[in-house]
Amino acid sequence: MEVKDHCAIIVGGASGMARATAELFVEKGGKVAILDLPTSDGENVAKSLGGSFHPCNVMDWAGTESAINDAVEALGGNVHFCCNTAGGGLAKRTLTREGPHPLEDFQRVIDLNLISAFNITRLVADKMSKNEPNEDGERGCVINTASIAAFEGQIGQVAYAAAKGGIAAMTLVLARDLGSMGIRANTIAPSLFSTGITKGMPDEFSLALTKDAAFPKRMGKPVEYGKMAIAIYENAMMTGGTVRVDAGQRFAPK
Ligand SMILES: NC(=O)c1ccc[n+]([C@@H]2O[C@H](COP(=O)([O-])OP(=O)(O)OC[C@H]3O[C@@H](n4cnc5c(N)ncnc54)[C@H](O)[C@@H]3O)[C@@H](O)[C@H]2O)c1
Repeated sequence: MEVKDHCAIIVGGASGMARATAELFVEKGGKVAILDLPTSDGENVAKSLGGSFHPCNVMDWAGTESAINDAVEALGGNVHFCCNTAGGGLAKRTLTREGPHPLEDFQRVIDLNLISAFNITRLVADKMSKNEPNEDGERGCVINTASIAAFEGQIGQVAYAAAKGGIAAMTLVLARDLGSMGIRANTIAPSLFSTGITKGMPDEFSLALTKDAAFPKRMGKPVEYGKMAIAIYENAMMTGGTVRVDAGQRFAPK
């Protein structure tokens, strides 16, 4: 699909990789609606991109649904692209001297990453299914965000790896479920990227964390995620896959 004159919902778009994706989408002639936490910089980011901001917490299932409804309205009734990065983890082992991993912490990470990704995907797919298809039959494209921890989770990443692994595992099924409606579903699995808390990290730390990468031995830049997201959007053959953007890095146990 072409970006020009198309409409995107960018979840987590106030910062980092999703923000870079929103910027590229607008640069190529598209229109964006940003969904992010009310406390985020979403209002300013949306304004700078000529788009709209719809505050929501992706763990509030009903609130996310109304934010998506508002976003589609602000976009003029259409959404062709949804890119979602809202998520995060915690560092906790399955068992320590203090006892077993609290179940509510595990549940929270699953809700924040996996359930929210499915909730967003099902709701935007419903909107996309009403689009006029292009000459190739395409109506829309959804990208969720996993992590290379989906495949090589490190010690202390049990909840995060389960959640991101779930995102990767559901991607092919989403693509199969939605394919007959001309909607594509993909996942990007980044290695360490310079965003949020990792942005201001001193070079020696980021070098140590990326020493196992093949090349380049540095953190990814948000725009490198954005370029992959746009490439997936523009390529009709891309569906059902999880694309690693990782400089060849494979996480060691710790
Ligand atoms: N940065 C990395 O090294 C890295 C590596 C692999 C995967 N990831 C994944 O990327 C995503 C984070 O993106 P980023 O690295 O660009 O970070 P970021 O912090 O710059 O951006 C994430 C955005 O998501 C928003 N967000 C967080 N929780 C939310 C919620 N409950 N509801 C609505 N919005 C919420 C934040 O406000 C923020 O604007 C996460 O899913 C994370 O697991 C990050």
